[in-house]
Amino acid sequence: MDHFAFRDGILHVEDVPLPTIAEAVGSPVYVYSAATFRRHAQVFRDGLKDVARKHIAYAIKANPNLAVLRLLADEGYGADVVSGGEMARALAAGMPPDGIVFSGVGKTADELARGLDAGIGQFNLELEEEGEVLARIAASKGLRARATIRVNPDVDAGTHAKISTGRKENKFGVPIDQAPDMFDRLSRLPGLDLRGVACHIGSQLSDLAPLEAAYARIGELVAELRRRGHAISRVDLGGGLGVPYKPGDTFPSPADYGAMVASVTRDWDAELMFEPGRVIAGNAGVLLTRVIWVKPGVVNPYVIVDAAMNDLARPALYDAWHDFVAVQPTGERMVANIAGPVCESGDTFAMGRDIDRVESGDLAVFRTAGAYGATMASTYNSRALVPEVLVDGDRFAVVADRIAAETILAAERVPEWLAR
Ligand code: LLP
Repeated sequence: MDHFAFRDGILHVEDVPLPTIAEAVGSPVYVYSAATFRRHAQVFRDGLKDVARKHIAYAIKANPNLAVLRLLADEGYGADVVSGGEMARALAAGMPPDGIVFSGVGKTADELARGLDAGIGQFNLELEEEGEVLARIAASKGLRARATIRVNPDVDAGTHAKISTGRKENKFGVPIDQAPDMFDRLSRLPGLDLRGVACHIGSQLSDLAPLEAAYARIGELVAELRRRGHAISRVDLGGGLGVPYKPGDTFPSPADYGAMVASVTRDWDAELMFEPGRVIAGNAGVLLTRVIWVKPGVVNPYVIVDAAMNDLARPALYDAWHDFVAVQPTGERMVANIAGPVCESGDTFAMGRDIDRVESGDLAVFRTAGAYGATMASTYNSRALVPEVLVDGDRFAVVADRIAAETILAAERVPEWLAR
């Protein structure tokens, strides 16, 4: 459920009509619903009601806007971060360092040191050498780094190849059969407080079976580690639960997921960590755009909108579907291609799609754009960096400015030997 609905024929986000936001902020603009974020946070937590000890670390890569992080911090969420930049955001939003998980296959020594200084609660190690470096830095500071080993359970998540992470040929995690010996060696290092294992097999999963298979393998690993005398107090089960993008698509609910987790992990006797991203943020945002032209085409007309692949990269990158809905639909339909102004044929949001009839100047939204939307935006074609607005009841605020092309230009220099 979300809080995007028509009232008097006009699409609203909570109590705010979208034309009001377009008028105040311009377009394109991402618009988020605070009530939807809060609801998703609650529904995910409620889904895990049968898991006794748990911590939810929102994968902030999905939507790292500071206001969004503050909302989720207020819901008791921690953060899963993958860079020094994300860590700084989570801390700036007031998330307690203890509730922050530092993931990522390429954490630099500098990032590890900054994480230790900040008191990060858990480092998910991706390779043995990273564990050795972390242990050395921690020991030099008189600290013990709390860590897990991320394992690769070699499970096919059945999702798009570019967002699949749990097959043995992927760059992520330690092969699960090598994990016990590595655990033996790393657990001897005084600078490490090795507490358990972690996994994450991919994103936008539409089926619980691969997750269940991965978790079952993790359960066997935990048993093996305990047989070797290791105290395992934590298991990080990652994120990955998908959301429907297309009308009619069905996905396992957080309650289905939680029931599966409770059943697979019932004898684990460990605190479970979760790293949901998309399921919290996806349906909490839309990308509001204005139709520039409806250009006659050979097969179908092209609806050229003012949002482009630099603002929402998912269709170009993953052939992703985002529903396109007119803000003030007339009831008439048309079959059209939807494209942005960027000079690439890949800057196409949909081909031959049955959509609300729109004309030049009309407003429309791409739905389910709250996750992996604004955060993946760029300034390609010297376009402005897309702004973000948060709606909360009848209030709204710009929570990220539009960064104008001129501002970006001002950060560039011509060296003096080329100066005129
Ligand atoms: N934990 C780890 C270690 C991850 O790598 C990810 C996502 C998550 C948690 C959160 O996964 P989620 O619950 O959101 O599925 N840009 C792509 C998605 C990339 C996901 C990367 N890792 C997209 O737009 O579909």
